[in-house]
Amino acid sequence: MNKTILITGASSGIGEATSLYFAQQGWQVIATMRNPEKEKDHIKEPNIFVTRLEVTEPASVETAIQQGIQKFGKIDVLINNAGYGQQGLFEAVSPEKIQEQFDVNVFGLMHVTRAMLPQQLRMARIVCGTWPVLILNNW
Ligand SMILES: NC(=O)c1ccc[n+]([C@@H]2O[C@H](COP(=O)([O-])OP(=O)(O)OC[C@H]3O[C@@H](n4cnc5c(N)ncnc54)[C@H](OP(=O)(O)O)[C@@H]3O)[C@@H](O)[C@H]2O)c1
Repeated sequence: MNKTILITGASSGIGEATSLYFAQQGWQVIATMRNPEKEKDHIKEPNIFVTRLEVTEPASVETAIQQGIQKFGKIDVLINNAGYGQQGLFEAVSPEKIQEQFDVNVFGLMHVTRAMLPQQLRMARIVCGTWPVLILNNW
């Protein structure tokens, strides 16, 4: 049976490239993004399911996972890719901007990981690739 992978932040960069790569390798891909209505390339691949996931909205995380399971029956691997870097002089970056980044890169990653835990207890692997952490968990 084909394996299924859920990738966050699949609209561009590493997330986009990774989702297309896994699809070409025959995986079933749940490509999640904040604005799926703008998507053009992923929907051309028959084994990619595009759905909305905003990591700072736990309800959207739950919904995306449930939709993915409904579509493919299971999730074997999660790639926590959504996030961003913020560069500049520390004193020039406001506390609000730092909080926003932690809401996405740290707490957002935690929402997604927590929502995946029932799956993980069965079999899934979780990869976290945002700036603050890079973890390969039981790969
Ligand atoms: N490139 C590097 O050298 C490098 C190095 C270390 C770590 N990383 C990490 O690797 C990941 C991918 O990097 P990249 O270079 O491919 O960056 P990218 O092209 O900017 O892709 C980031 C992705 O994260 C999504 N995203 C941002 N905030 C989100 C949110 N609140 N909810 C859901 N999705 C959100 C973006 O969606 P939108 O299109 O909607 O903005 C985009 O799809 C990032 O987490 C980055 O911090 C990258």
